[in-house]
Amino acid sequence: MSATRLLVVDDEQDLLELLVRRLKRKGFEVDSAGTAEDALELVKKNDYDIGVYDIRLPNMDGIELLKETKKLQPDTEVLILTGHGTIDTAIEAMKVGAFDYIAKPYNLSELELTIAKAVENKRLKEKNDSMKKIIAQHNEFNIIGDSANFKEVLEMTRRIADSAVPVLIEGESGTGKELFAKALHYWSSRSEEPFVPVNSGALPEHLLESELFGHTRGAFTGASQDKKGLVEAAKGGTLFLDELGEMPLALQVKLLRFLETGEFRRVGDVRERHITVRVVAATNRDMEKEVAEGRFREDLYYRLNVVKLTIPPLRKRKGDLPALIDYFIGKTKDPLLRLSSDALAALEKYDFPGNVRELSHLIERGVLLSRGNLIEAEDFLLPHVKISHAAPVQTQLCSLEELEKIHIENALRQMNWNKTKAAEVLGISVRNLYRKIDQYELKE
Ligand SMILES: Nc1ncnc2c1ncn2[C@@H]1O[C@H](COP(=O)(O)OP(=O)(O)OP(=O)(O)O)[C@@H](O)[C@H]1O
Ligand SMILES: [Mg+2]
Repeated sequence: MSATRLLVVDDEQDLLELLVRRLKRKGFEVDSAGTAEDALELVKKNDYDIGVYDIRLPNMDGIELLKETKKLQPDTEVLILTGHGTIDTAIEAMKVGAFDYIAKPYNLSELELTIAKAVENKRLKEKNDSMKKIIAQHNEFNIIGDSANFKEVLEMTRRIADSAVPVLIEGESGTGKELFAKALHYWSSRSEEPFVPVNSGALPEHLLESELFGHTRGAFTGASQDKKGLVEAAKGGTLFLDELGEMPLALQVKLLRFLETGEFRRVGDVRERHITVRVVAATNRDMEKEVAEGRFREDLYYRLNVVKLTIPPLRKRKGDLPALIDYFIGKTKDPLLRLSSDALAALEKYDFPGNVRELSHLIERGVLLSRGNLIEAEDFLLPHVKISHAAPVQTQLCSLEELEKIHIENALRQMNWNKTKAAEVLGISVRNLYRKIDQYELKE
């Protein structure tokens, strides 16, 4: 590890020299300045771990210098030497980001101790940041699949991640659109800025506008204070417009303007604001059809469609099945289970209307219902698979709700209606199980 680098600033020459000599003897690398202006020049050129600034300096004071330092090098920890003013100035220093303050006249060993604490604090922060990065890249970012047409989409994603142009992600439900939107974000240089999803279908039009662009106090009933919108929350990062096809027409106009100029207004505000974000949109609708039928503005569609990522449905890339299956089994509490050859064959024949999401649920269920160390075809409760001991299973596709009902009934029967045990295999609370029993009117 390289030596800790300090910048000491004081206009009292003798004190400054004494301090510098002492700190150097302790093994620190020390630069010094007698004015904030000189210090600032040094901060522009060098990276400092720690700054020790006297609060009272000619012209620009220690607090101003602290603020400027934080702008240039947010990671530098700054200690403020006070004593001339009241406690208020010390508190002000803390508010603008000082690590600590020390009253003059100070005891040198006390100062050293505080410096040691600041160094330790900085080291922990750095460790934490790099852990966060590693977690973001490894955990969230397992995109599984090596079939040729899937790899093509992945490579394209990597290539365009760092660009600022809008991206439109198309794909059926459960194909991984949100996963790819996150990949575009985390594989870019914006990865440390926010990734903010907006579900365009979740809110009525007027609420969606204020959710997206924010509002001022009194803009509408219930708007008791100014509020930032999601666009502002995503500043410098990625705004993910999910379910784009459901965005109301009136809002599409405002969105187009924002995309073209970066400008927008909070609801009820006269002030124009400007923000830079990368916009990624996703849809499972056929957008050309939406445009042709007048539900989506053509100009907005062209604006968003600069780059299109089309994620193929799972049934068109069955080659990805084995890797995906291993991956999802690996995430369950029985990561060593394997599929019987019949089970694999059943999945290979199935066409996965719910795509990868459906596969992950099937695997979870298969792991739960399996006995022994193999998952059998019947353990998946595939909608078209008859199961000898099971409750009536439809011969055609059924809704998730119906499937849930069947599955719960099945679990209860296998556990002889012991609700604690059934809740355990289902991975839900007993209370929740009672609620479901009620909801589906299940009877022993
Ligand atoms: N290639 C993949 N590798 C690993 N996990 C995947 C992959 N594709 C999808 N998933 C997982 O499947 C689930 C569904 O993915 P996601 O939410 O991204 O789909 P979506 O296209 O946004 O679906 P919807 O249209 O329903 O919103 C998520 O848990 C996601 O992590
Ligand atoms: Mg989604």
